[in-house]
Amino acid sequence: MSCIGFWIRGHETFDSSLYLHPMKILAGNWKMNTLPEEGLALLDALVLGLSPERLGEVRIVVAPPMVQLSQAVERLWNVPEISVAAQTCHQQSMGAFTGEISAPMLRALDVDAVIIGHSERRNYFNETDADCAEKIRSCLNHELSPIFCVGETHQERQSGRAWEVVKNQLQTGLSQVSSEEIVDVVIAYEPVWAIGTGEVATPEQAQEMHGAIRQWLREKYHASAQNVPLLYGGSCKPSNAAELFALPDVDGGLIGGASLVAHDFLALLDALRES
Ligand code: PGA
Repeated sequence: MSCIGFWIRGHETFDSSLYLHPMKILAGNWKMNTLPEEGLALLDALVLGLSPERLGEVRIVVAPPMVQLSQAVERLWNVPEISVAAQTCHQQSMGAFTGEISAPMLRALDVDAVIIGHSERRNYFNETDADCAEKIRSCLNHELSPIFCVGETHQERQSGRAWEVVKNQLQTGLSQVSSEEIVDVVIAYEPVWAIGTGEVATPEQAQEMHGAIRQWLREKYHASAQNVPLLYGGSCKPSNAAELFALPDVDGGLIGGASLVAHDFLALLDALRES
């Protein structure tokens, strides 16, 4: 089973033409924003702005708040070009974990993907790399594509430890993922210092890290590494996206603030399609 199958909502098969190439992916992480009506209005505005020409080879993912996943799946049922992701999940399938939501619950809602290990989850909710590994395992067990976030803090970069930190996150987070499964995973490099700050990685910084991630994936997963989409995230917006998306190892973006404004998100789509 390939993750590509998950992107074609309501179908059991996957589009093998996409399987051969790393996909371009534009993912919008809405975080804890939008009330239900606002969420629907945002989806409608995105759908209105989409056409096959505008989409090109880009896959769009939206990650609304948990309580809006059902309405998003329903609203997008006939729009398979837009996948729906949750912003986190619990590592266990069921049990006494008050307030938590499991991967099989998300799959039962026809959700396609789950963001795992976002820095806000790591910072505010104490998620560890070991937790991420279990969550990724649970996603893969339940046919959900994990969008695994990695990235260093400002201090870690200043002290020259950026790659060491990201490598550790990859090593632990992906420790239970096989070569067959890695193509079901999307990786997002999000330098913590760039998230929601307006400070964006330079193209040199982004390519250096994406290149290192790709090389690490090659060493561990060989040919499959080419098929793992690597997204950049952190203050990515229409004014800076083109130069980031043009980088050889950047296959798309994980977008926070700019994903809440349809006009901006569609402008990012244009930048990615043209890259
Ligand atoms: P930002 O957030 O685009 O608002 O910086 C990115 C993210 O947190 O995924």
